[in-house]
Amino acid sequence: MNKDNENIDKIIISEEQIKEKIAQLGNAISSDYEDKSPLLIGVLKGAFIFMADLIRAIPIDCEVDFMAVSSYGAATKSSGVVRIIKDLDLDLTDRHVILVEDIIDSGLTLSYLRKNLLARKPASLEICAMFIKKDLQKAKIECKYEGFFIPPEFVVGYGLDAGERFRGLNYLAEYKVE
Ligand code: IMP
Ligand code: MG
Repeated sequence: MNKDNENIDKIIISEEQIKEKIAQLGNAISSDYEDKSPLLIGVLKGAFIFMADLIRAIPIDCEVDFMAVSSYGAATKSSGVVRIIKDLDLDLTDRHVILVEDIIDSGLTLSYLRKNLLARKPASLEICAMFIKKDLQKAKIECKYEGFFIPPEFVVGYGLDAGERFRGLNYLAEYKVE
């Protein structure tokens, strides 16, 4: 992956910082859910890398499922319209669910998903987000497991894309829109 791309500006969160944070989040979840076998639900596509790292940092028994939603299309601003493109395979009834998100921007996607998942009667539902844009949340989100608070810029890498590009970067970088 070439970081010398003209659209990639400065690195905001390094690979090292990400590794450290994953270990911390994994420890916190493991101790909170020791005898509960949580179900981690990843929000595609952005959370696929975070989910892959996170589950390997959680030594306790857990399961995964994925949901695909679209809130942005190809644009870089939230439309507020959330569309479920792929629904879950598993039943949430009486499960201890952790919703795993790549980034909270306006919070509109998560607030929609939270309501949608609560209607399926899980035993509990918490949110784990790797990146949270400071002060941008239009919808108030209770996020129990928080990764990094970042400036309100458009970012790419570590699963996050700009028009499907740059998801494979090992770090989080600011994306320069020309
Ligand atoms: P929200 O509904 O505004 O919170 O946005 C949620 C979704 O938009 C995230 O799950 C990401 O997929 C995408 N998104 C938000 N901010 C960024 C960004 O800075 N870069 C890339 N994708 C983003
Ligand atoms: Mg996206």
